[in-house]
Amino acid sequence: MILLDGKKTSADIKEEIALDVRELKANDEKTPHLAAIIVGSDGASITYVNAKVKACERVGFESTLIRLPEDTTEEDLLNEIAILNVDNDIDGFIVQLPLPKHIDEQKILMAVDPDKDVDGFHPTNVGKMALNLPTFISATPFGILELLDRYNVETSGKNVVVIGRSHIVGSPMSILLSQKRKVGNATVTITHSRTKNLKEITLQADIIIAALGIPEFLKADMVKDNVTVIDVGITRMADPSKKRGFRLVGDVAFNEVAKKAAYITPVPGGVGPMTIAMLLKNTLLARKRRSK
Ligand code: GUN
Repeated sequence: MILLDGKKTSADIKEEIALDVRELKANDEKTPHLAAIIVGSDGASITYVNAKVKACERVGFESTLIRLPEDTTEEDLLNEIAILNVDNDIDGFIVQLPLPKHIDEQKILMAVDPDKDVDGFHPTNVGKMALNLPTFISATPFGILELLDRYNVETSGKNVVVIGRSHIVGSPMSILLSQKRKVGNATVTITHSRTKNLKEITLQADIIIAALGIPEFLKADMVKDNVTVIDVGITRMADPSKKRGFRLVGDVAFNEVAKKAAYITPVPGGVGPMTIAMLLKNTLLARKRRSK
C-alpha cells in the first residue's frame, strides 16, 4: 500500500509556487494577492480561511481577510464582492462556504468576477471546466487530479466510482476524470444517496472517490484488492483525548480499507492540504493572466 501523502505533495507545490513568486518579484512584477471573505464565526470555516491566509504568506503572496458578522445582509455581502471585483490590487478572491441561511449562496457566487473566481465556482467557470476549456478548476477536484498525477496513478480506461454528487467535489470530479486529459479518460460512475446496490458498484471500482460526508462509510467489504481510494471526508468527531476536543474522520474506514488498497489518502494529511495548494496555484494563474 502506498500512502498518497497530501501534506508532502502540497508542501512541494507550495515550494514551486514560492519559486515563481520570487521570480515575479525579481522581475519587478506585481505580487499575487488573494482575498477571502468569511461571514459569521463557524469554527471549521475560520480554521480553513486562516489556513488559506497563512499559506499565502508562506509562498510570498499578499492576502486580505475580510471578516463579516453573521447577520451581514445579502446586499452588504454583494457590495463587498463588487468592491473586490474592481480592486486592481486583488488578483483573486473567495467567499468561504457555507454562508448563513439568510444569504442566497448561488446569487453570491454569481456576483464574483469569473476572472477573479479562483474557487472556480462561478457558472461561467463551471461551464468552461465541463467543456474542458482553460479555467480555474476548483481546489478539491484539482487537488485530487494533482495527487493522482504526481503519484502516477493510471486513470485511463479505469473504472472510477465517485460517491457523492456535490457541486464542490462529486460532480466536477466525475466530469474531469471522464474527460480527455492527462489524468482522465476514465469510465466514471457517479453514485449518491438514491443509488441502489452501491456495494456491487464499488466492488467494480479501480479508483473510488469518497465524498459523501459520512464518517467511515466505505468499508473493506465494499472494495476490491488493489483499489485506489481518495477520501474527501473531514468530519469533526468529539474526542476528549485531543487538545482541540475533536479529531478529523474521513469517509473511509481507513485501517481496514488500507489493507486492500494499492494507493490511499489518509485523513488528515491527504486531500485537505492539497486544496490549499491548488487555491494558491489558481491565484498565481489569475495574477499571470491579468498581467497579459
Ligand atoms: N467550503 C468548503 N470548501 C470550500 C472551498 O473550496 N471554497 C470555499 N470558498 N468554501 C469552501
